[in-house]
Amino acid sequence: MSKTAILEVDGKRYEFPILIGSENEVSIDISKLRTITGGITTIDPGFKNTSSCQSAITFLDGEKGILRYRGYAIEELAEKADFLEVAYLLIFGELPTKEQNKKFHRDIQKQSLVDTDVQKILDGFPKTAHPMGVVSALTSALTAFNPKSVNVDSEEAMYNAVVKILAKLPVLAAWAYRKEEGLPLEYGDNSLGYVENFLKMMFDLPNEVYKSNPVIVNALDKLLILHADHEQNCSTSTVRIAGSSHAGLFASISAGISALWGPLHGGANQAVIEMLEDIKADGGDFQKYIEKAKDKNDPFRLMGFGHRVYKNFDPRAKIIKVAADEVLADLGIDDPVLDIARGLAEVALSDEYFKSRNLYPNVDFYSGIIYRALGIPVPMFTVMFALGRLPGWIAQWREMRLNKEPIGRPRQLYVGATERAFVAENKR
Ligand code: SDX
Repeated sequence: MSKTAILEVDGKRYEFPILIGSENEVSIDISKLRTITGGITTIDPGFKNTSSCQSAITFLDGEKGILRYRGYAIEELAEKADFLEVAYLLIFGELPTKEQNKKFHRDIQKQSLVDTDVQKILDGFPKTAHPMGVVSALTSALTAFNPKSVNVDSEEAMYNAVVKILAKLPVLAAWAYRKEEGLPLEYGDNSLGYVENFLKMMFDLPNEVYKSNPVIVNALDKLLILHADHEQNCSTSTVRIAGSSHAGLFASISAGISALWGPLHGGANQAVIEMLEDIKADGGDFQKYIEKAKDKNDPFRLMGFGHRVYKNFDPRAKIIKVAADEVLADLGIDDPVLDIARGLAEVALSDEYFKSRNLYPNVDFYSGIIYRALGIPVPMFTVMFALGRLPGWIAQWREMRLNKEPIGRPRQLYVGATERAFVAENKR
């Protein structure tokens, strides 16, 4: 592989260094392009061909359907690790020792109280507010209770900020749910594990004895691991660019939650279930919806299908599909929507339109079926995605700041009006 790339414009040749990643990916470093060419830039809507950074956190191979966190295969982590272990791995780069794991969990528990004044902010929301909007707002509100932006050069300060946000987001998520349900707010129980405690904060009733179900705890733990990071996706890029202005960690995470909410991104898990329910209500005729998805004049897309990077099966979708069968069987739930999902996937995967565009089920296609089986209401699906993605956002934000990356400020190709004189109102 040559060390440089040559660009020829208008008879002039320009050389740019070639960077090779640890998985032999190749990038052309154009960081000096505009300077050495006297103003030429590249344009790449959606950044489909643009690497925004060098990162050591997550590796994806879209053609082979590979996903690794800090070098560990997602299949192994989903099977053998728990969510907090994976969070520690993503953020600090190594799997925690037994002592580190215990201390991490304990430090998070110690931070799991949220200032009661945050409840006054929550009270301002109508019950009909979407929980993603509530959680994003409350996360940003945490900055009011933690006004000093974390000093990233202090390992201790960074560690304390990490455990604080990992501790408080589940509380805010549970509060958003309970607000919608008209239930009294819960602070959980620090004698429980991280995921078990979250479920208790969600579903504990003041007049019942809460019973934890290990099948549900384990399934949710696995789902959170599968969502924990995914290199430079839309919401992570949002967290990075917000943090690049040296906005605080909580404010940057709040921006990421808002970006995740979109139905083309994390909001797809809610859109998938709504789509499957529509198909069910419409008599289960998947072919009609496949045709709609293929029709360029129809804005309808097959939600949960397709991916910017994976041009093969999303490895997370494969794991979630198996887990969906297991969880529903363990819980004795027969959800006809799962059959519709399977049938729809089968028809789509044999259809030329989907095959020719390498459109496969992604992480959002089956996840909603499990969330629903776990008793999580549809509007909370994307909040679950945010809880899972939190360690990834933290890890990527920390890496960007430790690498002292410059503020993100893309250029543009201006195609608007050239200079023109002002026209007085009576002459327009
Ligand atoms: C997530 O980036 C990440 O890593 C995201 C994520 C993560 O973990 O962070 O993996 C999580 O966001 C998963 C994606 C969830 N979104 C959906 O399921 C929504 C449905 N999918 C699509 O909207 C779409 O596939 C995207 C947004 C996911 C990817 O869009 P791209 O890469 O910009 O692809 P594209 O829109 O350019 O599509 C290429 C072609 C087009 O057809 P042509 O113009 O070539 O004829 O494929 C078609 C599209 O119309 N297409 C679809 C389709 N997805 C793409 N057609 C019908 N249904 C679909 N779902």
